[in-house]
Amino acid sequence: MLRNIALTSAGLVVARVLLAGYGACASALVGAAMHLPAVSSAAFDPGDVKRSYLSPDTIPFPNDNRYTPAKALLGRILFQDPRLSGSFALACASCHNAGFAFGNGLARGIGEGLKPLKRRSPSIINSAWGVRFMWDGRAGSLEQQAIGPIVGATEMNLPLAQIAPRLEAIRGYQALFASAFPGHAISPGLVGEAIATYERTVVSGTAPFDRWIGGDTASIPAAAVRGFNLFNGRAGCAACHGGWTFTDDGFHDTGLPDADTGRGMLLPRVIKMQHAFKTPGLREVARRGPYMHDGSLPTLAAVVAHYSGGGLGRPSQSELIRRLDLSAADQADIVAFLETLTGSADQDAVPAMPR
Ligand code: HEC
Ligand code: HEC
Repeated sequence: MLRNIALTSAGLVVARVLLAGYGACASALVGAAMHLPAVSSAAFDPGDVKRSYLSPDTIPFPNDNRYTPAKALLGRILFQDPRLSGSFALACASCHNAGFAFGNGLARGIGEGLKPLKRRSPSIINSAWGVRFMWDGRAGSLEQQAIGPIVGATEMNLPLAQIAPRLEAIRGYQALFASAFPGHAISPGLVGEAIATYERTVVSGTAPFDRWIGGDTASIPAAAVRGFNLFNGRAGCAACHGGWTFTDDGFHDTGLPDADTGRGMLLPRVIKMQHAFKTPGLREVARRGPYMHDGSLPTLAAVVAHYSGGGLGRPSQSELIRRLDLSAADQADIVAFLETLTGSADQDAVPAMPR
């Protein structure tokens, strides 16, 4: 039954999951979890290190905002709709674009009035498993986070009191809200719930790396296998980027020269939180450069060269970031490995907007 959800293409599984919700596979939804296609056969034993990178086969949803197809569809539409912005020009998807692995390909987000934001737009992929959100972790849930950019003056700039009237005036939304939240009036809280539900369905798809973990030894080149061993061994990357999402969900100063104090703004007394930013997951990473919270590193090669050099070395810097002196060949191997974490882009069409 679960395997029914699996379409054959690699890449993000967002569309598949949404489709699955409508079809015969709706029965795959169990409790607050949603099943995903499995990547490996049960008979194959990948070994301990590799096993820690196996993707789960369900998406977790919180009990106070359970998955329904109607909610996810509404959220997917709201995510794409520029009418949720003061100027009618910006949607969530303007900065979290599927084609850029749900980032936007720029060093800094561009908000209201085409003004650059302070930080880069992070990917929202796999946020169903996220612990805290934003580069500095200031948002505790996706529901809470979703309203922030709508009302933020520098982002979408639509005052809170205008969200419901703006949507009520669009007839198509009345029907979409009625089926997602029967008996409830349109409100910012429901907008947050719908968007968060959609976001949780944006999950990384099967990448060449997963096929390798699943036992297909030919699916990644020898350089990437060497890179995987360095990542888990001498280069020490897995200390922060371990597990199938490739993040510890923690905050670290990796020694970049930017003056932004990151999580230090919320925790001014904790030395190690100064210039600390959330460890980004590395799924689909090849499609979402430039990298880091400030977009200061243009390529994966530049990121690996930064780690090899050991960073600035100020007191807040993580002890796990130290001079590695990786050879050019080692650095190329790590890049080759990182490239295997990206599936092919999903052709997830933008939904028709309600009128
Ligand atoms: C103008 C560009 C822009 C728009 C529009 C925008 N975002 Fe973002 N988004 C960002 C930036 C930049 C950050 C990181 C900000 C920070 O950490 O200080 C971010 C962070 C996030 C995060 C946190 C991801 C993580 O892993 O921590 C989520 C989730 C998110 N945005 C969802 C949304 C939603 C939902 C909308 C629409 C309601 C939206 N964004 C609109 C630029 C944008
Ligand atoms: C101490 C924890 C830690 C270690 C060790 C570490 N990283 Fe990171 N990584 C982070 C954090 C935190 C960021 C975000 C930093 C920022 O934006 O300021 C990051 C960012 C990245 C990014 C950019 C992702 C994006 O979307 O911008 C890549 C790629 C990356 N790391 C790969 C690696 C590799 C390869 C290694 C080993 C050579 C490594 N990391 C070691 C914590 C770590």
